[in-house]
Amino acid sequence: MALAPMAGITDSAFRQICRKYGADVTYSEMASVSALFFKPQKTLELVRFNKSERPYVVQLFGKNPKHFAASAKIITEKIKPDGIDINFGCPAKKVFGHGSGCALMPQKELAREIISAVCENTSLPVSIKIRAGIKDMTAFDFIKNTADLPYSAIMVHGRTYEGSFSGEVDFSICEKIKKMVPEKIVLGNGGIMTSENAKNILKRYPLLDGLGIARGAWGRPWIFEEIRGIINVGTDLVSVQKRTDTRSVPTKYYFSKTKKIMLEHAKLIYKDKGKTGLFEIRKHMCWYIRGFPGAAEMRKKLVMAKSLKEIIDILN
Ligand SMILES: Cc1cc2nc3c(=O)[nH]c(=O)nc-3n(C[C@H](O)[C@H](O)[C@H](O)COP(=O)(O)O)c2cc1C
Repeated sequence: MALAPMAGITDSAFRQICRKYGADVTYSEMASVSALFFKPQKTLELVRFNKSERPYVVQLFGKNPKHFAASAKIITEKIKPDGIDINFGCPAKKVFGHGSGCALMPQKELAREIISAVCENTSLPVSIKIRAGIKDMTAFDFIKNTADLPYSAIMVHGRTYEGSFSGEVDFSICEKIKKMVPEKIVLGNGGIMTSENAKNILKRYPLLDGLGIARGAWGRPWIFEEIRGIINVGTDLVSVQKRTDTRSVPTKYYFSKTKKIMLEHAKLIYKDKGKTGLFEIRKHMCWYIRGFPGAAEMRKKLVMAKSLKEIIDILN
Protein backbone atom coordinates (compact mmCIF):
# COMPACT_ATOMS: atom_id res chain seq x y z
CA MET A 1 0.00 0.00 0.00
CA ALA A 2 1.60 3.15 -1.26
CA LEU A 3 1.03 6.79 -0.49
CA ALA A 4 0.74 7.99 -4.11
CA PRO A 5 2.69 11.10 -5.15
CA MET A 6 0.92 14.44 -4.72
CA ALA A 7 2.51 17.79 -5.53
CA GLY A 8 2.02 20.22 -2.67
CA ILE A 9 0.85 17.44 -0.31
CA THR A 10 3.26 14.51 0.08
CA ASP A 11 6.02 16.41 1.85
CA SER A 12 8.31 14.79 4.40
CA ALA A 13 5.97 15.34 7.38
CA PHE A 14 2.95 13.84 5.63
CA ARG A 15 5.01 10.92 4.37
CA GLN A 16 6.27 10.26 7.91
CA ILE A 17 2.72 10.30 9.27
CA CYS A 18 1.45 7.98 6.51
CA ARG A 19 4.36 5.57 7.05
CA LYS A 20 3.71 5.57 10.78
CA TYR A 21 0.04 4.75 10.18
CA GLY A 22 0.57 1.93 7.77
CA ALA A 23 1.76 2.99 4.29
CA ASP A 24 4.31 0.47 2.99
CA VAL A 25 5.98 2.92 0.64
CA THR A 26 5.87 6.68 0.15
CA TYR A 27 6.35 8.81 -2.96
CA SER A 28 7.73 12.34 -3.10
CA GLU A 29 6.02 15.27 -4.75
CA MET A 30 6.96 15.29 -8.43
CA ALA A 31 10.36 16.88 -9.06
CA SER A 32 11.29 18.58 -12.34
CA VAL A 33 14.23 17.00 -14.17
CA SER A 34 14.97 20.29 -15.93
CA ALA A 35 15.14 22.09 -12.58
CA LEU A 36 17.47 19.35 -11.30
CA PHE A 37 19.58 19.70 -14.45
CA PHE A 38 19.97 23.50 -14.39
CA LYS A 39 19.57 24.53 -10.75
CA PRO A 40 19.35 21.49 -8.52
CA GLN A 41 19.44 23.04 -5.03
CA LYS A 42 15.79 23.98 -4.55
CA THR A 43 14.52 20.72 -6.04
CA LEU A 44 16.90 18.65 -3.94
CA GLU A 45 15.44 20.42 -0.93
CA LEU A 46 11.93 19.41 -2.12
CA VAL A 47 12.76 15.70 -2.21
CA ARG A 48 15.01 15.25 0.83
CA PHE A 49 13.60 12.85 3.37
CA ASN A 50 13.77 11.41 6.84
CA LYS A 51 14.84 7.79 7.10
CA SER A 52 11.56 6.84 8.83
CA GLU A 53 9.87 7.38 5.45
CA ARG A 54 11.72 4.47 3.85
CA PRO A 55 10.95 2.79 1.53
CA TYR A 56 10.81 6.13 -0.22
CA VAL A 57 10.55 6.81 -3.95
CA VAL A 58 11.44 10.10 -5.65
CA GLN A 59 9.20 10.91 -8.60
CA LEU A 60 10.62 12.78 -11.61
CA PHE A 61 8.76 14.65 -14.33
CA GLY A 62 9.89 16.34 -17.53
CA LYS A 63 10.34 15.49 -21.19
CA ASN A 64 14.07 15.68 -21.96
CA PRO A 65 15.87 12.30 -21.78
CA LYS A 66 19.21 14.04 -21.11
CA HIS A 67 17.71 15.82 -18.11
CA PHE A 68 16.19 12.53 -16.89
CA ALA A 69 19.61 10.84 -17.18
CA ALA A 70 21.37 13.59 -15.21
CA SER A 71 18.59 13.73 -12.61
CA ALA A 72 18.63 9.97 -12.04
CA LYS A 73 22.34 10.26 -11.24
CA ILE A 74 21.91 13.28 -8.98
CA ILE A 75 19.01 11.74 -7.05
CA THR A 76 20.80 8.41 -6.66
CA GLU A 77 24.00 10.02 -5.37
CA LYS A 78 22.73 12.96 -3.35
CA ILE A 79 19.31 11.85 -2.03
CA LYS A 80 19.77 8.06 -1.89
CA PRO A 81 16.09 7.07 -1.89
CA ASP A 82 14.86 3.49 -2.41
CA GLY A 83 13.56 4.01 -5.92
CA ILE A 84 12.94 6.48 -8.72
CA ASP A 85 9.54 6.89 -10.37
CA ILE A 86 8.75 8.51 -13.73
CA ASN A 87 5.57 10.53 -14.13
CA PHE A 88 3.61 9.53 -17.24
CA GLY A 89 0.22 10.36 -15.75
CA CYS A 90 -0.04 14.03 -14.82
CA PRO A 91 -2.79 15.89 -16.73
CA ALA A 92 -2.22 19.29 -15.05
CA LYS A 93 -1.92 22.09 -17.59
CA LYS A 94 1.49 23.33 -16.52
CA VAL A 95 2.96 19.81 -16.83
CA PHE A 96 0.93 18.37 -19.72
CA GLY A 97 1.08 21.65 -21.64
CA HIS A 98 4.89 21.44 -21.66
CA GLY A 99 4.80 17.93 -23.10
CA SER A 100 5.50 16.17 -19.79
CA GLY A 101 3.43 13.81 -17.60
CA CYS A 102 0.56 12.18 -19.47
CA ALA A 103 1.54 13.96 -22.71
CA LEU A 104 4.41 11.44 -22.94
CA MET A 105 2.17 8.37 -23.01
CA PRO A 106 1.39 8.53 -26.76
CA GLN A 107 5.03 9.29 -27.68
CA LYS A 108 6.33 5.76 -28.07
CA GLU A 109 9.99 6.47 -28.86
CA LEU A 110 10.40 9.31 -26.39
CA ALA A 111 8.79 7.32 -23.58
CA ARG A 112 11.25 4.47 -24.20
CA GLU A 113 14.20 6.88 -24.30
CA ILE A 114 13.18 8.42 -20.99
CA ILE A 115 12.73 5.11 -19.18
CA SER A 116 16.07 3.86 -20.59
CA ALA A 117 17.82 7.09 -19.58
CA VAL A 118 16.70 6.66 -15.97
CA CYS A 119 17.38 2.90 -15.79
CA GLU A 120 20.89 3.36 -17.22
CA ASN A 121 21.80 6.10 -14.76
CA THR A 122 20.75 4.62 -11.45
CA SER A 123 21.38 1.44 -9.50
CA LEU A 124 17.98 1.90 -7.81
CA PRO A 125 14.74 0.19 -8.84
CA VAL A 126 12.79 2.29 -11.34
CA SER A 127 8.99 2.53 -11.51
CA ILE A 128 6.53 4.32 -13.76
CA LYS A 129 3.15 5.91 -13.07
CA ILE A 130 0.70 5.85 -15.96
CA ARG A 131 -3.00 6.38 -16.69
CA ALA A 132 -5.55 3.95 -18.17
CA GLY A 133 -5.02 5.72 -21.48
CA ILE A 134 -5.01 8.94 -23.42
CA LYS A 135 -6.79 9.35 -26.74
CA ASP A 136 -5.86 6.28 -28.83
CA MET A 137 -2.98 5.18 -26.62
CA THR A 138 -4.18 2.64 -24.06
CA ALA A 139 -2.23 1.62 -20.99
CA PHE A 140 -1.85 -1.83 -22.61
CA ASP A 141 -0.21 -0.38 -25.73
CA PHE A 142 2.06 1.72 -23.54
CA ILE A 143 3.15 -1.30 -21.52
CA LYS A 144 3.56 -3.44 -24.67
CA ASN A 145 5.87 -0.76 -26.04
CA THR A 146 8.04 -0.58 -22.91
CA ALA A 147 7.75 -4.01 -21.22
CA ASP A 148 11.25 -5.13 -22.25
CA LEU A 149 12.89 -2.21 -20.39
CA PRO A 150 14.26 -2.99 -16.92
CA TYR A 151 11.84 -0.98 -14.77
CA SER A 152 10.32 -2.96 -11.94
CA ALA A 153 7.00 -1.44 -10.91
CA ILE A 154 3.97 0.31 -12.40
CA MET A 155 1.32 2.38 -10.64
CA VAL A 156 -1.74 2.54 -12.89
CA HIS A 157 -4.22 5.33 -12.28
CA GLY A 158 -7.35 3.59 -13.57
CA ARG A 159 -8.74 6.77 -15.12
CA THR A 160 -7.94 7.98 -18.60
CA TYR A 161 -6.43 11.41 -19.26
CA GLU A 162 -9.90 12.48 -20.35
CA GLY A 163 -11.31 11.18 -17.01
CA SER A 164 -8.93 13.56 -15.19
CA PHE A 165 -9.47 13.22 -11.40
CA SER A 166 -13.15 12.35 -11.22
CA GLY A 167 -13.92 10.01 -14.15
CA GLU A 168 -14.67 6.34 -13.75
CA VAL A 169 -11.83 4.22 -12.39
CA ASP A 170 -11.26 0.85 -14.05
CA PHE A 171 -9.23 -1.50 -11.88
CA SER A 172 -9.66 -4.37 -14.35
CA ILE A 173 -7.13 -2.54 -16.55
CA CYS A 174 -4.61 -2.67 -13.71
CA GLU A 175 -5.14 -6.40 -13.30
CA LYS A 176 -4.86 -7.06 -17.04
CA ILE A 177 -1.54 -5.21 -17.03
CA LYS A 178 -0.32 -7.47 -14.22
CA LYS A 179 -1.19 -10.46 -16.43
CA MET A 180 0.80 -8.92 -19.29
CA VAL A 181 3.92 -8.31 -17.16
CA PRO A 182 3.74 -10.68 -14.18
CA GLU A 183 7.41 -10.03 -13.39
CA LYS A 184 6.68 -6.35 -12.61
CA ILE A 185 4.95 -5.03 -9.48
CA VAL A 186 1.57 -3.51 -10.39
CA LEU A 187 -0.34 -1.16 -8.09
CA GLY A 188 -3.87 0.04 -8.83
CA ASN A 189 -4.74 3.66 -8.09
CA GLY A 190 -7.73 5.95 -8.24
CA GLY A 191 -10.78 6.82 -6.18
CA ILE A 192 -9.95 4.77 -3.08
CA MET A 193 -11.49 6.90 -0.37
CA THR A 194 -12.23 4.42 2.43
CA SER A 195 -10.69 1.24 3.78
CA GLU A 196 -13.85 -0.63 2.73
CA ASN A 197 -13.28 0.56 -0.84
CA ALA A 198 -9.72 -0.70 -0.70
CA LYS A 199 -10.64 -4.07 0.76
CA ASN A 200 -13.31 -4.62 -1.90
CA ILE A 201 -10.89 -3.78 -4.70
CA LEU A 202 -8.23 -6.13 -3.33
CA LYS A 203 -10.83 -8.90 -3.08
CA ARG A 204 -12.18 -8.29 -6.57
CA TYR A 205 -8.75 -7.95 -8.24
CA PRO A 206 -6.54 -10.42 -6.38
CA LEU A 207 -3.71 -10.29 -8.91
CA LEU A 208 -2.88 -6.70 -8.00
CA ASP A 209 0.29 -6.37 -5.93
CA GLY A 210 -1.20 -3.44 -4.05
CA LEU A 211 -2.82 -0.04 -4.16
CA GLY A 212 -1.76 3.57 -4.45
CA ILE A 213 -3.80 5.91 -2.31
CA ALA A 214 -3.76 9.68 -2.81
CA ARG A 215 -6.78 11.78 -1.75
CA GLY A 216 -8.10 8.96 0.45
CA ALA A 217 -5.26 9.79 2.86
CA TRP A 218 -6.24 13.46 3.20
CA GLY A 219 -7.17 13.96 6.83
CA ARG A 220 -7.08 10.17 7.26
CA PRO A 221 -3.44 9.08 7.00
CA TRP A 222 -4.40 6.02 9.07
CA ILE A 223 -6.42 4.65 6.11
CA PHE A 224 -3.47 2.31 5.46
CA GLU A 225 -3.76 0.71 8.91
CA GLU A 226 -7.53 0.62 8.63
CA ILE A 227 -7.19 -1.44 5.45
CA ARG A 228 -5.22 -3.95 7.49
CA GLY A 229 -7.72 -3.76 10.34
CA ILE A 230 -5.06 -2.57 12.83
CA ILE A 231 -6.63 0.73 13.80
CA ASN A 232 -10.12 2.15 13.95
CA VAL A 233 -9.96 5.88 14.33
CA GLY A 234 -13.52 5.91 13.14
CA THR A 235 -13.65 8.72 10.65
CA ASP A 236 -14.03 6.12 7.92
CA LEU A 237 -17.38 5.35 9.44
CA VAL A 238 -18.14 9.02 9.62
CA SER A 239 -17.23 9.52 5.97
CA VAL A 240 -19.26 6.50 4.88
CA GLN A 241 -22.23 8.16 6.52
CA LYS A 242 -21.21 11.34 4.73
CA ARG A 243 -20.86 12.68 8.26
CA THR A 244 -24.45 13.87 8.28
CA ASP A 245 -25.70 11.86 11.23
CA THR A 246 -22.95 12.64 13.70
CA ARG A 247 -25.21 11.80 16.64
CA SER A 248 -24.84 8.11 15.93
CA VAL A 249 -21.04 8.34 16.08
CA PRO A 250 -19.24 8.72 19.40
CA THR A 251 -17.31 11.69 18.09
CA LYS A 252 -15.56 12.53 21.35
CA TYR A 253 -13.76 9.23 21.26
CA TYR A 254 -12.96 9.51 17.57
CA PHE A 255 -11.81 13.10 17.88
CA SER A 256 -9.36 12.33 20.66
CA LYS A 257 -7.52 9.89 18.35
CA THR A 258 -7.74 12.26 15.40
CA LYS A 259 -6.42 15.09 17.57
CA LYS A 260 -3.41 13.03 18.66
CA ILE A 261 -2.45 12.43 15.02
CA MET A 262 -3.12 16.06 14.04
CA LEU A 263 -0.70 17.18 16.74
CA GLU A 264 1.93 14.67 15.65
CA HIS A 265 1.57 15.94 12.09
CA ALA A 266 1.73 19.62 13.11
CA LYS A 267 4.86 19.03 15.20
CA LEU A 268 6.60 17.16 12.36
CA ILE A 269 5.87 19.85 9.78
CA TYR A 270 6.95 22.60 12.19
CA LYS A 271 10.21 20.78 12.90
CA ASP A 272 10.84 20.34 9.19
CA LYS A 273 9.72 23.66 7.74
CA GLY A 274 9.26 26.06 10.66
CA LYS A 275 6.70 28.86 10.19
CA THR A 276 6.13 27.99 6.51
CA GLY A 277 5.02 24.58 7.71
CA LEU A 278 2.31 26.17 9.85
CA PHE A 279 0.75 27.68 6.70
CA GLU A 280 1.04 24.42 4.83
CA ILE A 281 -0.54 22.37 7.63
CA ARG A 282 -3.77 24.41 7.43
CA LYS A 283 -5.25 22.40 4.56
CA HIS A 284 -4.45 19.16 6.38
CA MET A 285 -6.08 20.46 9.58
CA CYS A 286 -9.26 21.31 7.65
CA TRP A 287 -9.32 17.79 6.16
CA TYR A 288 -8.81 16.16 9.57
CA ILE A 289 -11.73 17.92 11.23
CA ARG A 290 -14.18 17.64 8.32
CA GLY A 291 -17.49 16.25 9.56
CA PHE A 292 -16.92 16.67 13.28
CA PRO A 293 -19.47 18.76 15.16
CA GLY A 294 -18.13 22.31 15.46
CA ALA A 295 -15.75 21.80 12.52
CA ALA A 296 -16.68 25.09 10.84
CA GLU A 297 -15.87 27.08 14.00
CA MET A 298 -12.64 25.20 14.56
CA ARG A 299 -11.60 25.62 10.92
CA LYS A 300 -11.93 29.40 11.24
CA LYS A 301 -9.61 29.37 14.23
CA LEU A 302 -7.12 26.89 12.79
CA VAL A 303 -6.56 28.85 9.58
CA MET A 304 -5.66 31.91 11.68
CA ALA A 305 -3.22 30.06 13.96
CA LYS A 306 0.26 31.58 13.88
CA SER A 307 2.18 29.25 16.16
CA LEU A 308 2.33 25.61 17.10
CA LYS A 309 1.14 26.52 20.60
CA GLU A 310 -1.96 28.20 19.16
CA ILE A 311 -2.77 25.06 17.15
CA ILE A 312 -2.35 22.91 20.24
CA ASP A 313 -4.61 25.24 22.29
CA ILE A 314 -7.33 25.25 19.62
CA LEU A 315 -7.34 21.48 19.35
CA ASN A 316 -7.45 21.08 23.13
C1 LIG B 1 -3.21 17.62 -5.31
C2 LIG B 1 -2.74 16.46 -6.13
C3 LIG B 1 -1.41 16.42 -6.53
C4 LIG B 1 -0.95 15.36 -7.32
N1 LIG B 1 0.36 15.32 -7.67
C5 LIG B 1 0.85 14.25 -8.37
C6 LIG B 1 2.23 14.14 -8.66
O1 LIG B 1 3.05 14.96 -8.26
N2 LIG B 1 2.64 13.05 -9.38
C7 LIG B 1 1.75 12.09 -9.83
O2 LIG B 1 2.16 11.14 -10.48
N3 LIG B 1 0.45 12.18 -9.53
C8 LIG B 1 -0.02 13.21 -8.81
N4 LIG B 1 -1.34 13.25 -8.46
C9 LIG B 1 -2.21 12.13 -8.82
C10 LIG B 1 -2.32 11.11 -7.67
O3 LIG B 1 -1.09 10.49 -7.41
C11 LIG B 1 -3.36 10.04 -8.01
O4 LIG B 1 -2.94 9.35 -9.15
C12 LIG B 1 -4.74 10.60 -8.28
O5 LIG B 1 -5.08 11.61 -7.35
C13 LIG B 1 -5.78 9.50 -8.22
O6 LIG B 1 -5.79 8.88 -6.97
P1 LIG B 1 -6.90 9.20 -5.84
O7 LIG B 1 -8.22 9.08 -6.55
O8 LIG B 1 -6.61 8.19 -4.77
O9 LIG B 1 -6.68 10.62 -5.40
C14 LIG B 1 -1.82 14.31 -7.70
C15 LIG B 1 -3.16 14.36 -7.28
C16 LIG B 1 -3.61 15.40 -6.50
C17 LIG B 1 -5.05 15.40 -6.06
